[in-house]
Amino acid sequence: MLEGLFRVKPVEASPHVDAGEPVEGSLTGEADLKRVLTARHLLLLGVGAIIGAGIFVMTGQAAANHAGPAIMLSFVLAGVACAFAGLCYAEFAAMIPVSGSAYSYTYATLGEAVAWFVGWSLVLEYLFAASAVAVGWSAYTISLMEHIAHYMGSDWKFPALLASAPVTYANGNITATGALFNLPAVLIVSAVGVLCYIGIRQSATANAVIVTIKVGVILALIGFGSQYVNPDNWTPFIPPNEGGDRFGWPGVFRAASIVFFAYIGFDAVSTTAQEAKNPQRDMPIGILGSLAVCTVLYIIVAAVLTGMMPYNLLGTAKPVATALENYPALAWLKLAVEIGAVAGLTSVILVMLMGQPRVFFAMARDGLMPKFFGAAHPKYHTPHKATVVVAIVAAMLAAFFPLGILGDLVSMGTLLAFATVCTGVLILRRTRPDLPRPFRVPFAPVTCVLGTLSCLALVGFMGWYNWALLGAWTFVGFLIYFGYGYRHSKLRQAP
Ligand code: ALA
Repeated sequence: MLEGLFRVKPVEASPHVDAGEPVEGSLTGEADLKRVLTARHLLLLGVGAIIGAGIFVMTGQAAANHAGPAIMLSFVLAGVACAFAGLCYAEFAAMIPVSGSAYSYTYATLGEAVAWFVGWSLVLEYLFAASAVAVGWSAYTISLMEHIAHYMGSDWKFPALLASAPVTYANGNITATGALFNLPAVLIVSAVGVLCYIGIRQSATANAVIVTIKVGVILALIGFGSQYVNPDNWTPFIPPNEGGDRFGWPGVFRAASIVFFAYIGFDAVSTTAQEAKNPQRDMPIGILGSLAVCTVLYIIVAAVLTGMMPYNLLGTAKPVATALENYPALAWLKLAVEIGAVAGLTSVILVMLMGQPRVFFAMARDGLMPKFFGAAHPKYHTPHKATVVVAIVAAMLAAFFPLGILGDLVSMGTLLAFATVCTGVLILRRTRPDLPRPFRVPFAPVTCVLGTLSCLALVGFMGWYNWALLGAWTFVGFLIYFGYGYRHSKLRQAP
């Protein structure tokens, strides 16, 4: 039995087409994929998938409750862990340019059971991230609508009953909000779900437009906001620990585990490996380039935000807008930020809602999930059934769960996938030293070991309640695996 659980899928054979595939082409086979993406596309795709709720929403809570101005350090720490993981993804994506990303890499290195675990963890990354980002989208959209109403001379407010989940969640404590459910979040997930169903292509051009708006807004925030920075707001840089992970070094590390969310998305570049014109050269450029750009932007934005106002006032659902509200001269910028955030978060939701059904699709084609999830629409060539299920579940989560709980689970699932990919690089170097590696992780094995350890360390700072949720999630996953996947795996049935 153990042998079957850890049987690896041969690297060369890739009979199915998996995550991300229908961006260009159909689900009928690899031959239909079009290699259209250049290094520039891949770079923009990475930035499009990365910049979202992490910087526009979560930075505030992490600074206000855990790190204070040292949120800048937290961004550096999370960025370092991501750099290690990014290097490992780059080696895999250039060497095995299939689109199943971490799930496929793991199947080729650590075997089926671990691949299932990673695929199941990717549900936390993609599906839960779509919901988490939709909650952030909702906060910014409501703010934008009220802002526009205000401009038009009305004091209209979005009904509080429909503006958020019925509960909020922080540090394991759940409190009632008085709201029924988050209507805007449900609407955006549904709308994006419809687009995914009918085969909306994640067009590189549309993505480039959104990225231009997003990055433009962030550069404007840095340029104009920095003129209002009061360096006094940066002292104490690391506020004294108040117990647990509230401030002090434990707080800095806890905040790093929260803002890690902001970096998620560079790995999504690897799911487009089958559409890249020259994956061997361009995958590392797309993955590592987008990560480098975003790391620099994030650290500067964190400095500007905590310099513009005392960190303890930043703990809102829209901290960037909150910081700007302090300065009437920057009212115009607040409107621009809200528009940039709404556009930017939409592209993140789209990427995540496209990725998840394709991971299920890949797993179904391997026999690890029911055939239902492996169905492709005859006309739109999308995994339409999986898309409907994913969109419904994502909408429900976004309706009833607050951002904090969703964000941490997304980060945990992603960190586990990253740690596995870092380990996988080492394993494949031993088991298949013969495979051509257009990009090699420098200073391996040290880099890979540090990648695994730093990702696991960030998981360690997630708090016991998140561990409990992750344990339950994994338990359910393995029930499904042994109830279904183990018995239907195509690889295990092969001679
Ligand atoms: N990195 C993405 C975001 O911050 C998931 O929204």
